[in-house]
Amino acid sequence: MTAPPLGGHPRVSTIEELMELLDSLYGADADRTSVGASDFWGRLLQQSDHVLNTDLPDANLVAWRSAGHLPSVGDLGRRPTALDVGCGLGRNANWLASQDFSVTGIDIAEPALAEAIRRGGARADGERARYLSRDFLRDEVPGAPFDLVYDSGCFHHLAPHRRISYRAALDVALAPGGWFGICTFAAGRMGSTADDAQLLRQGALDGGVGYSLVELEHVFADLELVAAGRLPAADEVGEPVFTQDFLHAALFCRP
Ligand SMILES: C[S@@+](CC[C@H](N)C(=O)[O-])C[C@H]1O[C@@H](n2cnc3c(N)ncnc32)[C@H](O)[C@@H]1O
Repeated sequence: MTAPPLGGHPRVSTIEELMELLDSLYGADADRTSVGASDFWGRLLQQSDHVLNTDLPDANLVAWRSAGHLPSVGDLGRRPTALDVGCGLGRNANWLASQDFSVTGIDIAEPALAEAIRRGGARADGERARYLSRDFLRDEVPGAPFDLVYDSGCFHHLAPHRRISYRAALDVALAPGGWFGICTFAAGRMGSTADDAQLLRQGALDGGVGYSLVELEHVFADLELVAAGRLPAADEVGEPVFTQDFLHAALFCRP
């Protein structure tokens, strides 16, 4: 375990100090959502046989676009802005850029960002997604608020208490009337189903938390649910997409 922070002070006096104290109760290898995990993600995502080492966008994202659920130039009278949280090698950010979004991809893993830039997808006018090294929980994100915030595979690596930090960051990042899409491990098919007290007691996250769709609705209860379900198969979407049966996705709208 890492040493308790608190900057030399013996007692917690702010919420962030409590958050950092709780962070310190998790083993160094358990926390994959702060900059210490940069090399872990940089190496993992670029393994030649890793499922996320692909340029294909998430099937749910493409299906939401086809169903008219995502913001568009037609709706807004300008290019919609999008933030990809924990963008990894940029497969979803690059696809969004090709769909006329003005895209910012952020990640804590600089090696992954370098690869995302190298693979960069462009809009019809040639403008590419921009990639920034930022920690969504702890840093400001230039360009906020966004019309669409999308997270594929980052949220489910958070320790329970960091969901609170995540929601606060989302509150700043998402524009009123904006859309929030999330793709996570589906409880029972991938990820830990231990309850939060158990996760805290064991000081480990077992490689990520599996969420039911009801749990996702509960965590993001201040948003309105638009769509939720398993990731569609490639032939249902009608174009090449990334899809796995251990994932599911939900789309919310901010009132
Ligand atoms: C499972 S990978 C998913 C990558 C990508 N979204 C995809 O689906 O291909 C999780 C990503 O979240 C990033 N990440 C973890 N914590 C983060 C944080 N606090 N802020 C920004 N990115 C984070 C990791 O570096 C990693 O690239």
